[in-house]
Amino acid sequence: MFLVFPLINKKYIPYGDLLLPFAGYDFGRVKLPKSIVNICRVIKNSYRNRMSTALITGASGGIGKAFAEELAARNINLVLVSRSEEKLNQLAEKLQEQYKIKVDVLVEDLTKPAATQAVYDTIKAKKLTIDFLINNAGFGDYGDFAERDGERQIKIVQLNILALVDLTHKFLPEMKQRGSGSIINVSSLTAFQPMPYLSVYAASKAFIVSFSQALWAENRKSGVRVLVVCPGPVETNFFRAANFPPSLAGRINTTSNQVVSQSLQALERGDSMAVIGGMSTHFVSNLSRFIPRKTMLYFLEKQFKA
Ligand SMILES: NC(=O)c1ccc[n+]([C@@H]2O[C@H](COP(=O)([O-])OP(=O)(O)OC[C@H]3O[C@@H](n4cnc5c(N)ncnc54)[C@H](OP(=O)(O)O)[C@@H]3O)[C@@H](O)[C@H]2O)c1
Repeated sequence: MFLVFPLINKKYIPYGDLLLPFAGYDFGRVKLPKSIVNICRVIKNSYRNRMSTALITGASGGIGKAFAEELAARNINLVLVSRSEEKLNQLAEKLQEQYKIKVDVLVEDLTKPAATQAVYDTIKAKKLTIDFLINNAGFGDYGDFAERDGERQIKIVQLNILALVDLTHKFLPEMKQRGSGSIINVSSLTAFQPMPYLSVYAASKAFIVSFSQALWAENRKSGVRVLVVCPGPVETNFFRAANFPPSLAGRINTTSNQVVSQSLQALERGDSMAVIGGMSTHFVSNLSRFIPRKTMLYFLEKQFKA
């Protein structure tokens, strides 16, 4: 502590800046204690005296909108992305009015390959620093893969995987350089096993889990947090957008607000993954450990056939 107190003084804050790049690294026999580096980081951020900004994809409804509302209530500026201009503008107006924060709206179809670059360019042009990246936009498509529209399957991959990877790759390096930042990638309970009749969607969500947990490990000591969120069924427009038969959806008793609050708690703890939902969600997320894959696929195919 004696080493730290002299740093809590504006005059010495540049020293905090100098220490940050060395967080957790070994330099021969000298290793800065993590606690000192973390305190320097806190000092540096308060010295910057700027509000944090969150970039949220798929913020026009459901889980993304709930993230926007919760982060706004925590006094965080927002950049909201989706295709629905009117919904985003209404939400932006409400949150700006209610919380006196700054909200930017970017209307983009993230299935288009150029969209992520457009998001990045606009953020740079506005000189915004992204502290929270919430890759939430996603959709599924229920049905027999061979009979479904092929272009729609490609769009699932483009949105759920490619846009998420690209935005992460655009914003992670600068977070690492600052030694702070958080990335939340929204996956799903469907990530834990192949899902007949939601094949591309479930595979895309499995990708997100694998990718995000690898990034969590790579960035563990960098000050950047990476969390993958795997909710069970949540009350949103998701099932309608996926043409999912309501009779197969079962009882849905998790809300978007619960997903958001449990995700933020998990992020705070430094977890790599949050499985969100009731007992059955946690049970299903572990099933593939105990039941042979072939047996499970047999039952899932029967259960999810319309
Ligand atoms: N609801 C569930 O049961 C559940 C469970 C597990 C995981 N999830 C995941 O949670 C995430 C959010 O889904 P949700 O449940 O909140 O469903 P939702 O209410 O349908 O919201 C989806 C969001 O994604 C946006 N979006 C869709 N296509 C887009 C595109 N091409 N470009 C940009 N934005 C696009 C939508 O906005 P626009 O239509 O305005 O573009 C909307 O804001 C998804 O990744 C989903 O896979 C949902």
